[in-house]
Amino acid sequence: MQQHTISKLKTAFEKDVYKGLTDYPKHLSSKYFYDKAGDQLFQDIMEMPEYYLTRCEFRLLETNARDICRKFSQQGKPFNLIELGAGDGKKTKILLKELLQQQADFQYLPIDISGNVLGQLQTSVRNELPDVDIQPMEGTYFDVLEKLQDVKNRKVILFLGSNIGNLLHTRAIDFLKGIRKLMGPEDLLFIGFDQKKDPQTILDAYNDPTGITEAFNKNILVRINRELDGNFEPDNFKHWESYDPETGTARSFLVSKIEQSVYLGKIDLRITFDAWESIHTEISQKYDHRTVEWLADEAGLMTGQVFEDPEGCYKNYIFRKK
Ligand code: AVJ
Repeated sequence: MQQHTISKLKTAFEKDVYKGLTDYPKHLSSKYFYDKAGDQLFQDIMEMPEYYLTRCEFRLLETNARDICRKFSQQGKPFNLIELGAGDGKKTKILLKELLQQQADFQYLPIDISGNVLGQLQTSVRNELPDVDIQPMEGTYFDVLEKLQDVKNRKVILFLGSNIGNLLHTRAIDFLKGIRKLMGPEDLLFIGFDQKKDPQTILDAYNDPTGITEAFNKNILVRINRELDGNFEPDNFKHWESYDPETGTARSFLVSKIEQSVYLGKIDLRITFDAWESIHTEISQKYDHRTVEWLADEAGLMTGQVFEDPEGCYKNYIFRKK
């Protein structure tokens, strides 16, 4: 019966939801958090006092903008500033402003899985920084890596926000290898890594008392209801966060509070949950220097300068091709 159903599934979303919810233990990919409602919820998360990541990286970029941008423009040579998972670009604008000030010759190519957020970004850059030449591209990181093969000028690739933390180490290495393949000897890769810290600080960042993160996590159920004609009752699930201080992995779950069943009409799938059965939805990896060096080394990258925020909770690394 399942064989029969899966052959009828069309979109990647349908296939991934089907696979994740018929697997044991159940899982869904956090890349599906980001529809219109999810984009807004993530923007709200970035404003929360508990979500220190945005604040720390923002300060890091402010404090080091001159240095960072000098490295990017390497004596005024033209380049493409490619940003993976650009989102609202709030942090990137610090760099864009500084680059304009340094009269760098660059084009800005933001990439995001959410067309909605890219539209907003383009509008705000045009308004606030009209001198920036911006050309947004919509797609997953992996889709867009392909398109980037045609980019001829020198590349500076940004991957901010500890977005890399959504990937398990093995997948992060594969991803970095994919980027490396696109890099020439002069190209740079600039990545933000959230650091290991007091486990309580991390848990608080992913489990705020106002319930914004809970709503963000549960938004994937709302999206499934809308797009796959489902009848998930989000209140029947509990948002749960765990953090392992040894591996540095924070994990988000939705835990079924009761025994229940859910039906997704669009893909004709009935899913049953035991009481307290989980759906794993996201990982948010935290790093230390050894781990970053190991990832880079495995991917064939060489570490250049490392920048740290004033609070010491976050780092950005510059890499080159080894
Ligand atoms: C956008 C992937 C960096 O993992 O910290 C925020 C997403 N999830 N709160 C993160 C997120 C829950 C965020 N990233």
